Formats: sequence, structure tokens, C-alpha cells
Amino acid sequence: MSILQLSPQVIELGTRDLDFSQVLCLPIEIREMLGDPNKFLAEKVLAFTTGSSQICLILFKNPADDWMLRIVYYDDPNNPKTTGLDNFLSQSLSGQALRDRLDFCSKCIAQKFMRKHKRVVDLGGGSGSYFFEALKHIPAMPDGFHWNVIDKDEISLQEGQVRAEQGGYSQIITFENFNFNDKKALPKEDEKADFAVLIGVLCGMDKDTATKCLRKAKEHIKPGGQILAATLLKKAFDEDPRTFRILCNVGGWQLRPKTMDEVLQCFNDAGWGVREVMSERKNGDGQYAIVHAVAE
Ligand SMILES: C[S@@+](CC[C@H](N)C(=O)[O-])C[C@H]1O[C@@H](n2cnc3c(N)ncnc32)[C@H](O)[C@@H]1O
Repeated sequence: MSILQLSPQVIELGTRDLDFSQVLCLPIEIREMLGDPNKFLAEKVLAFTTGSSQICLILFKNPADDWMLRIVYYDDPNNPKTTGLDNFLSQSLSGQALRDRLDFCSKCIAQKFMRKHKRVVDLGGGSGSYFFEALKHIPAMPDGFHWNVIDKDEISLQEGQVRAEQGGYSQIITFENFNFNDKKALPKEDEKADFAVLIGVLCGMDKDTATKCLRKAKEHIKPGGQILAATLLKKAFDEDPRTFRILCNVGGWQLRPKTMDEVLQCFNDAGWGVREVMSERKNGDGQYAIVHAVAE
């Protein structure tokens, strides 16, 4: 069957009978196999998805890779990367939720965090997409503002560095190649950030790991500092199960979506005082819990 270690949430998703009959970019045999709880993990399905979709191939090689997000964020119907199965995944409700998350959170960050002489640390910030997007929502760069991305993926960081140089922002945004949980990633006391950003990082963690990660995030910021974090809710699997079956069960992305109560529990247990819980959707009922909290 499969060499993948499936998360409990993905195993549950795998028990559902799903209808792929209208997903015309897939051959009929693959549609039938993907819909069948007993066949969707077959090597034939994996060979097809990773062979025909850049998104699946990226996630199969490196789950939770920022590169996949760059395809979805800059989605454009004429982009050769978003045809066929990539187009189906990118245009799905979940692809749209990722673009809405980028839009919503970057506006929030611009309003709340991009202030004079303040520092942001973007934990697992990949290529700095949220910094570049937030630029669209500020009238001018605040004096003395600094944004530091810490990520363990060197290629994403290089991508961000090139973008920063091309835009003339290399004095404002910096990129550090660390596991943010490591001691050596922690800043000196006088270089601690005022604000942390943690987006798309907790999504693959179980509750204990997410709580530890949120505790660690506090060590990167000043006492009383703030965080904006976004993580996937169980609702996402319920409203768009086909996309997640392809991404998680076949593409190798072991997401662990949580209920809102579980998300809030993680923040409380990690010593964050939750100030606001938001959503990427205007009606408040989106795929992500977007949490603004203060370190206590
Ligand atoms: C799904 S991507 C999200 C990127 C970005 N935050 C966004 O939402 O556009 C997750 C990123 O977190 C990084 N990451 C996960 N755990 C990390 C850790 N412990 N230390 C550093 N980077 C980490 C991965 O390398 C990856 O680039």
C-alpha cells in the first residue's frame, strides 16, 4: 500500500467515500481509485498525481514546503504551473482559502505590527510572502522597522533574499536559516522582536507539539509581545475533502487540522492570552483559525 505515515486526521479522511467523477483533469481510472477508501493509496495513484502535478510532487518530496504556496499564492490562469491537476488544487476552496489567508493576515500584520522601530520575527516564514504582501497595505515603510524570517528551508530563504534585493528591501527584511526551536536561533535579549508571525506552521503539528512550538515562539519576542498565528481547522477537511485527500493521502502532506477549542487550548497552555480569533473569510467561517494573542 503506502510508505506514508498518515496523521490520524488524514486516516479518518481516508475512510470517506468521495466522488471524483467530475474532476475531469484526472483519467477515469484514477478518479475511481481516488474516490475509493480502499484504493486511493495505491502506487498507481501516487505515480499519477506526483507525475502530473507540481504541487503534489513538491509536497511528496518535502511536506509543508513554502514552494507549493508560491504556486498557489501567485495563481494565474495562464501560469503553466497551474494547469490540469495543479489547476484543480489551486482553484479549490482550499487554494482560495490560502490566498484569502495571505490577504487577510498581511492586512492585519500591516495594521497591527508594521510600526516605527518595531521588530517582527516570522517563524517558518519561508520566502517572506507575508512581508511582501503586507507592503501593499502600508503607505510608507515605518522608520526603523525590521522583519526577520527564520526558516529551516534554505531554498525558500534564498528565494526571499532575491526578492528582497530586487525590491530594495534587504536592509529591512533579513533571512536566517535555523530551526526556530534551536537555542542558536534565539536572539540576544536586546534583539528580541516585538511581534511574532506564525502562519502555516502549526497545521501539521499535533496539539502537544503545537503547544511546545507556541511556548518556543515566546522566547523569540519581548515580554508582553504579540503574535499573529494561523492554523488549519477541521472544517477544511469537511468542506473540501477531495483536495485534502489528494494533498495529504497521496501527496504526502500530513496535516493535522484542529477544532477551534483545540487551537485555543494550545494557546492557553503555552501561556498566550488570546485577544482576537479571526478568519480569512468575511463571514468568519473559514478554513483557518487566525489568532492574535499576547505573551503572558
Ligand atoms: C507551509 S510553509 C509556510 C510558509 C509561510 N509561513 C507562509 O505561510 O507562506 C511552512 C514553513 O515552515 C518552515 N518550518 C517548519 N518548522 C520549522 C522550524 N522548526 N524551524 C524553522 N522553519 C520551520 C518550513 O521550512 C516551511 O518553510
